[in-house]
Amino acid sequence: MKRRNGHGQWKILGLGFLLLALIASGCGGGAPAGGAPGGGGATPVALKGNPEKGKELFLGTCASCHGPDAKGLPGLGKDMTTSEFIRKQSDAQLLEFIKRGRPATDPANTTGVDMPPKGGNPALTDQDLADIIAFIRTLNPYRP
Ligand code: HEC
Repeated sequence: MKRRNGHGQWKILGLGFLLLALIASGCGGGAPAGGAPGGGGATPVALKGNPEKGKELFLGTCASCHGPDAKGLPGLGKDMTTSEFIRKQSDAQLLEFIKRGRPATDPANTTGVDMPPKGGNPALTDQDLADIIAFIRTLNPYRP
């Protein structure tokens, strides 16, 4: 009996040390929480886009005019896959363009059809648009 108890105690002690080690390492991993410097939110920091998410969003908002394959629809949106405009715009410029759109009254408009701001879906965030741009880039890479 005495011996057994002794072993049990050692086991518990060992477990205790293991737990302590785990807790200590867990705490050590956490860097002190401090926001990125200058995180005002106003600066147009390049957002990383997710092309998979972007495709979903594209199909939901842009495909009605630009087609599910982004090759454009007659009398509606333009072909994005061969667009020199898209090819030469940086991601940041494209973001600004999509937010503004290009109304038929804009002298730069080429079709006489409105490209509505955010494709007519004001719910799209900058991150959503960055995702859409990442998807467009899979079809028409940036080649200035
Ligand atoms: C209601 C129809 C419509 C929807 C929806 C729409 N677009 Fe457009 N888009 C247009 C039209 C029309 C043009 C061509 C404007 C012109 O004549 O210059 C255009 C042009 C563009 C261009 C410029 C292409 C070029 O070569 O000049 C981009 C980029 C673009 N759209 C992105 C988008 C994205 C991204 C979405 C979804 C968020 C979207 N569009 C949704 C109608 C639409």
